[in-house]
Amino acid sequence: MNIEALKNEIYKLKREKNALIVAHNYQIDEVQEIADFVGDSFYLSKVCAERPEEVIVFCGVHFMAESAKILSPHKKVLLPEIDAGCPLADMVTAEDVENLKKKYPDYSIVCYINSPASVKAKSDVICTSSNAVKIVREFPNDKIIFLPDKNLGSFVRKQVPEKDIILWEGFCITHYKIKKEDVEKAKSLHPNALVLVHPECRPEVVELADFVGSTKQIIDFATASKEKEFIIGTEMGVLYSLKKLNPDKKFYILHPGMICPNMKKNTLQSVRDALLYERYQIEVEEEIMQGAKRALAKMLEMG
Ligand code: 13P
Repeated sequence: MNIEALKNEIYKLKREKNALIVAHNYQIDEVQEIADFVGDSFYLSKVCAERPEEVIVFCGVHFMAESAKILSPHKKVLLPEIDAGCPLADMVTAEDVENLKKKYPDYSIVCYINSPASVKAKSDVICTSSNAVKIVREFPNDKIIFLPDKNLGSFVRKQVPEKDIILWEGFCITHYKIKKEDVEKAKSLHPNALVLVHPECRPEVVELADFVGSTKQIIDFATASKEKEFIIGTEMGVLYSLKKLNPDKKFYILHPGMICPNMKKNTLQSVRDALLYERYQIEVEEEIMQGAKRALAKMLEMG
């Protein structure tokens, strides 16, 4: 089936099933194009919780669809490619959290949304890259264990020096590719460009940036800016919205390897199949569901 025919079938199925399609900023262009909402993980988790549609096709990775299911257990949440995972999320287990709690009983656990539901269930509150600083700063405990991303954790630690923050050793394999030298080289090639990076980058990369934020915050910053050139330190999928919203501006990606192989798994074909066959349905065990819902709801309540 050609692209136009696929798109038309997706729109038809979407109407018939009264489904909502959401896509993360890292999805391939064609998938972002057919989505009802495109954004970062915080924005999408709010959209999925607030919208009335009973069927959600989540074009992202597993933990994102799982979070949508936890926040709206009665809805049918579909992930077009069931093996679209997140290596960072897999770097911590529920058992690790149990051991940390035994070792540091006075500490509260702030867990990045890039984590399995079983880990969220044992955490005090969830955060995303767009609200991690706020959540840690405002959480009513000065002793925090931040997991699983050590880079986002160290960014938070710099912004909230008054708190004692223990970091877990996880990291995003895609953002980790960007080195300090890449930023120095990009800056010398494009001396007028501002450097915008995601906080999953290494601390020495974050140090050299003009702006640090989630994918949506990067897109919003570049769109609102009077500057005309930007060096982008996150997955290339963000270029879709950056270019669409800013046809007069120039964007340079910091590293040619900024491609998350898992985020790129969803295709128009798999979105169409997800709608047609109502697959792959995300389910979460009841006991895990309750604990993870409490921690996610706490994040939404803190804003
Ligand atoms: P966002 O918070 O921008 O959605 O980032 C999520 C992510 O997985 C980055 O790699």
